[in-house]
Amino acid sequence: MSLAIRFDDIRKDFGPVRVLHGVSFELAPGRIYGLLGENGAGKSTLMKILAGYETATSGTVLVEGHARQFTGSRDAEAQGIVLIHQEFNLAEHLTIAQNMYLGHEKRRGWFVDDAAMRADAARYLAQVGLAKAPDTRVRELIVAEKQMVEIAKALSRRARLLIMDEPTATLTPSETERLFTLMTKLKADGVTIVYISHKLDEVERITDEVIVMRDGRFVARSETAALARQQMANLMVGRDVSDMFPAKLTVSADAPLALQVSGLTVPEWVDDLSFDVRAGEVLGFAGLVGAGRTEAFEAIIGLRRRTAGRIEIGGHRVDLKSPRDAMRHGLTYLSEDRKGKGLHVNLSLQDNVTLMTLERYAHPLLDLKAGRAALTKAVGEFGIRTGDLSSRARMLSGGNQQKLALAKFLQPDPNVIVLDEPTRGVDVGAKRDIYFLIHRLAAQGRAVIVISSELIELIGLCHRVAVMRAGRLQATLTLEHLTEEELIAHATGTH
Ligand SMILES: Nc1ncnc2c1ncn2[C@@H]1O[C@H](COP(=O)(O)OP(=O)(O)OP(=O)(O)O)[C@@H](O)[C@H]1O
Ligand SMILES: [Mg+2]
Repeated sequence: MSLAIRFDDIRKDFGPVRVLHGVSFELAPGRIYGLLGENGAGKSTLMKILAGYETATSGTVLVEGHARQFTGSRDAEAQGIVLIHQEFNLAEHLTIAQNMYLGHEKRRGWFVDDAAMRADAARYLAQVGLAKAPDTRVRELIVAEKQMVEIAKALSRRARLLIMDEPTATLTPSETERLFTLMTKLKADGVTIVYISHKLDEVERITDEVIVMRDGRFVARSETAALARQQMANLMVGRDVSDMFPAKLTVSADAPLALQVSGLTVPEWVDDLSFDVRAGEVLGFAGLVGAGRTEAFEAIIGLRRRTAGRIEIGGHRVDLKSPRDAMRHGLTYLSEDRKGKGLHVNLSLQDNVTLMTLERYAHPLLDLKAGRAALTKAVGEFGIRTGDLSSRARMLSGGNQQKLALAKFLQPDPNVIVLDEPTRGVDVGAKRDIYFLIHRLAAQGRAVIVISSELIELIGLCHRVAVMRAGRLQATLTLEHLTEEELIAHATGTH
């Protein structure tokens, strides 16, 4: 059952860019490893090599002491090595069961045995605790459910070494708990797990040992218990990253109202929501998944039907019809679904950055030069790590895609900026950069609204935090009341 792995001097080049510079380390069987590193450090690339999705430029992967050159992921899966991707790999139009057995169809004689596949799928779905029928189409699932399908699919491949690339980025706390219970059980069964995550509190809880990579190199390994969270962060970034939050600026009481919403109602989601935010203020939105925060802002910018509500930007009543319309009125909303709604992954970095402001760059000659300048500025300002400025967005590491999405959404120079989960999947160093950026935006007199599930982030950044529960505003906490306990109490209704 056990599976020992050794990486021996693994290098990987993408064209002229070297992203792994001779990585060597070992994984012992039956342990849970945390693999840490900044965005672009090479974690996903190394694991894709192990799981047969990429081939190393040089170096050897040894499985149970034998050098292996996998010709594809199925080859690796046959050895019990299964990777759950950071970006989902599901076919939207197929059912859960079809996805789970795609390329691994069960057969009875000549025929695909649908009944057997559905029965098996149901068993694995029950194991991960997803209450959906196996013939539900994947496109009908929400993101967290897709994640659970990915995990069920991995289980169905009888993994002996399971790699999870940021599995909890989109999960709620209770789903994360369920995943951890499952991981503990798999470990007891002798499965080795590599857990890639930027959530250091989770890494601390669930892993036995951490391995840290930086700039395509192995830097350190340690028993998790022997390493404080702060040390993990410092090892990843290669410098001290202790002061994560800038000092809050005072918002003057007569600062103009930047956005004012009253009586907003979105059928099934939001009931009579009123709030306002001043220029220079950072307003947080806390709440559990499903509390209606995202839906409220989608309705404000015209992506969802609202049945009541008055919206004023800069003191003028508006009736926003689309995100583009919102932008014209000086409001941008960065969706939490970056891949689906934030970036055009098949376009170049430059096209992504300039897409939002086509009007500004529309002159065909100005186009290229101004666009390139905007990209260079964005890359510098947001610390986007890319070997090659002309690459496509899809080639960026997960966290760098987030930063690109942020850069893109700030291009039109908005007065009101709404950021939905701005640091999801982002490394500690980049998180700090984003916090300081939000601070700068507010200092310039813009109003920033941050929707976040990370309470520390809301407490560290915001002047006030609005807490929603089941579509209603429960409370708006001011600075002196901003504590985790208060936020949780209002979000869960135990206040
Ligand atoms: N197919 C590709 N073509 C070109 N460059 C690539 C490709 N895949 C990855 N890279 C580059 O390799 C580097 C390492 O990326 P990788 O995805 O392994 O980082 P990561 O450690 O997983 O980061 P994150 O925490 O953001 O997920 C990045 O600079 C990335 O842009
Ligand atoms: Mg990655």
